[in-house]
Amino acid sequence: MARRTSDNSTIRVALLGCGNVGLALYELLAEPQNKQALFQRTGLTFEVVGIAVSSLKRKRSDADWFDASLLTTNAAALVVREDVDVVVEVMGGIDETLPLFEKALKSGSSVVSANKALLARHGRALARLAFNHGADLRYEAAVAGAVPILRVLRDALSGEQVTRVMGIVNGTTNFILSLMDHEGVAYGDALAEAQRLGYAEKDPTADVEGYDAASKAAILASLAFDCKVSAAEVSREGITQVSAEDVAFARQLGYAVKLLAIAEVLEGTELSVRVQPTMVPAAHPLASVDGAFNAVFVEGEACGELMLYGRGAGGKPTASAVLGDLVEVARSMHRGGAPDVPLSPRTMVKRPIAQISSAFYLTLDVADQPGVLAKVTEVFGQHGVSIRSMEQVGLGDEARLVFVTHRALEGAMSATIKQLRRLKVVDRVGTLLRVIENGEGNS
Ligand code: HSE
Repeated sequence: MARRTSDNSTIRVALLGCGNVGLALYELLAEPQNKQALFQRTGLTFEVVGIAVSSLKRKRSDADWFDASLLTTNAAALVVREDVDVVVEVMGGIDETLPLFEKALKSGSSVVSANKALLARHGRALARLAFNHGADLRYEAAVAGAVPILRVLRDALSGEQVTRVMGIVNGTTNFILSLMDHEGVAYGDALAEAQRLGYAEKDPTADVEGYDAASKAAILASLAFDCKVSAAEVSREGITQVSAEDVAFARQLGYAVKLLAIAEVLEGTELSVRVQPTMVPAAHPLASVDGAFNAVFVEGEACGELMLYGRGAGGKPTASAVLGDLVEVARSMHRGGAPDVPLSPRTMVKRPIAQISSAFYLTLDVADQPGVLAKVTEVFGQHGVSIRSMEQVGLGDEARLVFVTHRALEGAMSATIKQLRRLKVVDRVGTLLRVIENGEGNS
């Protein structure tokens, strides 16, 4: 179906969701000064023609520009209305939201979304559906909020051989780790502070266990390497095992602990996508990304290294990214341009996590007795894991051993840990962190 346009310069928008992001976007579109500024910059007028919400009871705004008569609980009817050019989805959800995307795209409306979980799962199929119906699908806000990394990967770096993308893409965990680093507070206290400030949800699982970052990693990998990656294929670890002592130790060793989403090409055809708490050398640009900020560091054959930094969450920053997509889609419609042709995804084998190599940080609580160190280090040796440094901290009758290894395979390190757990002299196997070596990805 050919895409519809209202007239040359008025773009009619259906908004799905009116929470923090939806309301911020509506304000950017409808508040008179914003509306005027947007018209001056783009020559386009954006008219919100309907806003789907789950309940009409909640009061959303007293502002003059807020038109409560646009609210509806019937999202399914809204997305197929004849007078809608673009559907903007900022309500979240997967199963109940996917049919709305499909209906909108099938009726020729373009879709702009901030829904990382849905796009990490269905992005490719939806892009194909959009193309088949002459519509666009944009989702810049789904990864790293206001940071325009998807557009950079898709447009500016479209001819680039990207080799690796490493991102701090979850502001909540970065806030928690930064607080642990700077104030020395325990994980639980840092999480409570993140909840108090509204960064972390009451149930923080999606953030602290790395699910949110895994969805974003899948989207980044799909765009950077033009291949199909779903969130379920991302190897994922969260930050719940990281202690204030680990963060302090890392700092002493010259590193900051960050939850990194990493997508990289290995030997030209294989791909690894993973989310892991990682020790980043203090001199690396990602190490100084503090608090709730996000940053994505990209390495490519010709471009070398580049980094984008900014606010990864929050109503206004996310709405800013949504608005950028909306303007892009509107400009394309205004020009009568054809939508993007989805590329045929490259076939890339996902290398199993056990075959990924890294340097590691590992802590062990052991009995402080003669011969213990020999027994422990023998296990590392048996699995071919070479120790780069070891420090011992006294804990009464116990000692904490802090190891940093040379590069080894993840599989060898897990086998080492499994065997260490069986040693009588080991009371507790502590935290495992990956270590980015000095100069790696920052040469
Ligand atoms: N919960 C996310 C974060 C923001 O903390 O970064 C939305 O993706």
